[in-house]
Amino acid sequence: MSQNILVTGGAGFIGSHTVVALAESGFNPIIIDDFSNSEPSVLAGLRNILGRDIPCYAQDCNQFSLLRSIIRDHQISGVIHFAAFKAVGESMEEPLAYYRNNLGSLITLIDAMLAEGITNLIFSSSCTVYGNPDNPPVTELTPVKPATSVYGNTKQIGEEIIRDVCAAKPLKAISLRYFNPVGAHPSAEIGELPRGIPNNLVPYVTQTAAGLRKQLTIFGGDYPTTDGTCIRDYIHVMDLAEAHVAALQFSFQQKESVYYDTFNLGSGQGNSVLELVHQFEKISKKPLPYQIGPRREGDVVAVWADVQKSKELLGWSTRRSLEEALRDAWRWQQKFG
Ligand code: UFG
Repeated sequence: MSQNILVTGGAGFIGSHTVVALAESGFNPIIIDDFSNSEPSVLAGLRNILGRDIPCYAQDCNQFSLLRSIIRDHQISGVIHFAAFKAVGESMEEPLAYYRNNLGSLITLIDAMLAEGITNLIFSSSCTVYGNPDNPPVTELTPVKPATSVYGNTKQIGEEIIRDVCAAKPLKAISLRYFNPVGAHPSAEIGELPRGIPNNLVPYVTQTAAGLRKQLTIFGGDYPTTDGTCIRDYIHVMDLAEAHVAALQFSFQQKESVYYDTFNLGSGQGNSVLELVHQFEKISKKPLPYQIGPRREGDVVAVWADVQKSKELLGWSTRRSLEEALRDAWRWQQKFG
C-alpha cells in the first residue's frame, strides 16, 4: 500500500515539484501550505500533471493540534518540511518573523511527529551554511561558517535542532543542503512564481527576456573567477525534487531507531553568471540586455557541490543539464508573456 507523506510548503517552488516526484514514485503526498508565498493555482497545475487532486490544507503549519490531527487522519508515514520564509534581504529587516516562522514551525512539527510516533523527517537546508568556502567544491565535511544572514542562520539552527533531537528521541532525519534550484516542470504547469521583483538570477533573466524587466544587472564583474562573475551550482528543480524521494526512501531503510545526516544536493558543476546568461541567450535565440553593476552585499564568490556522498548513499544524481533547466524556465516564463 502506498505511504502517505506530509509535505509542508508543498505549494512552493521546490515543494510542488517534490509533490510530483513523490506521486510519480508511488507515494501519496498531502500538502499543508498557508499560501503566504505561493499561489493556489499550483494545485490546478499539479492536477493537470498528475491527473488527480492532491489533498491540501491551506493552513500555517505552526499549529501543533492541527499537525497532529493531519498526521493521525492521514496515517502519515513521513514528513518533508519545506515551509519557510526564504528572502535573504527581508530576513535582515524582519529577523523575529524569520526566527518565529522558520524555527517555530520546525519545533512544532517535530513535536507533533514525536507525539504521533512518526519518525522520518526530511528538512530543507541550504548551501548557505558553507558561507564563502575556501576551496570549492564543498563536501558535507566542509566546515559550516557563521551565517551571514538571518535566513541562513535559521537553516543552520534548524539543522542543529534536528541533530540535537535525534540524539535524544526516536527520529530519523536528513538535512538536504540545496545549491541553486532553477528550471520548472517540463510541462510548464508548475514553476517558480516570484512575488514582485525577483531576487534570484534565473527568474530575473527570464523576466528580462520576456520584456517585463528592462535589463539584468549582473552583481559584480571583478571577482577572482575566470570571467569576473560569481560561480554557483545550478540544479534542475526536478532533479532536486527526485533527491527528496531518494532521501525519504533512504530514511525508511534505516534499521536503527535514530538516524541523522546531511547531504549536498547540487549538480557538482560550477557556472558563472555570465556563462548562464550566454547559455540562456542560445535558448531564447536573442541577446539578453544586461549591464555589469556593483557587487551585491553578502554574495559568495564561488561555491559548488561535491555530490559523491549523495550519489553513494542515496543512489541519486542529477539527470538534467543546465541547458534543460533554462529551457524549462523559459517555457514556464512564456506562459506569462
Ligand atoms: N545575480 C545577479 N543579478 C541578479 C540576481 C542574481 O547578478 O539580478 C547573481 C548573484 O550575484 C549570484 C548569482 O546571480 O552570483 C545567483 O544569485 P541568486 O540570488 O539566484 O542565488 P544566491 O546564490 O545568491 O542565493 C542562493 C539561494 C538563497 C540562499 C542563498 C544563500 O537562492 O535561497 O543562496 O547564499 F539564501
